[in-house]
Amino acid sequence: MKFFIDTANLAQIKEANDLGILDGVTTNPSLMAKEGIKGNEAILNHYKTICDLVDGDISAEVLSVTYDEIIEEGKILAAIHPNIVVKVPMIKDGIKAIKWFTDNGIKTNCTLVFSAGQAILAAKAGATYLSPFIGRIDDTNWDGIELIAQIANIYGTQGFDTQILAASIRTPLHIVRCAEAGADVCTCPLDSILGLLKHPLTDIGLAKFIEDAKKM
Ligand code: G3P
Repeated sequence: MKFFIDTANLAQIKEANDLGILDGVTTNPSLMAKEGIKGNEAILNHYKTICDLVDGDISAEVLSVTYDEIIEEGKILAAIHPNIVVKVPMIKDGIKAIKWFTDNGIKTNCTLVFSAGQAILAAKAGATYLSPFIGRIDDTNWDGIELIAQIANIYGTQGFDTQILAASIRTPLHIVRCAEAGADVCTCPLDSILGLLKHPLTDIGLAKFIEDAKKM
């Protein structure tokens, strides 16, 4: 399973990249706004900076919701760097645009996915990545991990190439369960990635080894 970081914060991207386990980055308008990135030029420059920091797929989300505008915006985003993946919302015009991007050699990430039916449509359109939002499904009292398993089963059975990119990850346990359920990629906040490191017995064991090493 590939690890992406889900943020537009450059310090966090750098910290995760320095671990040596990072395969890419995802962003969205909320994450960009959180970093105070405003205006077209600043947005494009920010994506370019991320591409220079990380050697992997970088999702840049379109802000348009109509077919022609999604295509125009996606072309501009894709021209920033060969690693840019155009992130497109799961709407009718979005599916049409994903098919156009696929036919024209531009990678896509279909976002805001909450059902297996949506996953089938995105795969039919040739999406490179599919982003089911695990945490937001859990928020509605349904099981986000079950959706990952269902889509993994459908894609495996049908031979779809679209990679399942589990998003809206909130905890380290989400990452482990996505790996079990068959996600191809997990995009996570830095806290959840670092949370995978933690176990109290590791800390206790290391403290004892350090203490005993002094007696050697
Ligand atoms: O990639 C989508 C993700 O950022 C959404 O996460 O926590 O806002 O549901 P969240």
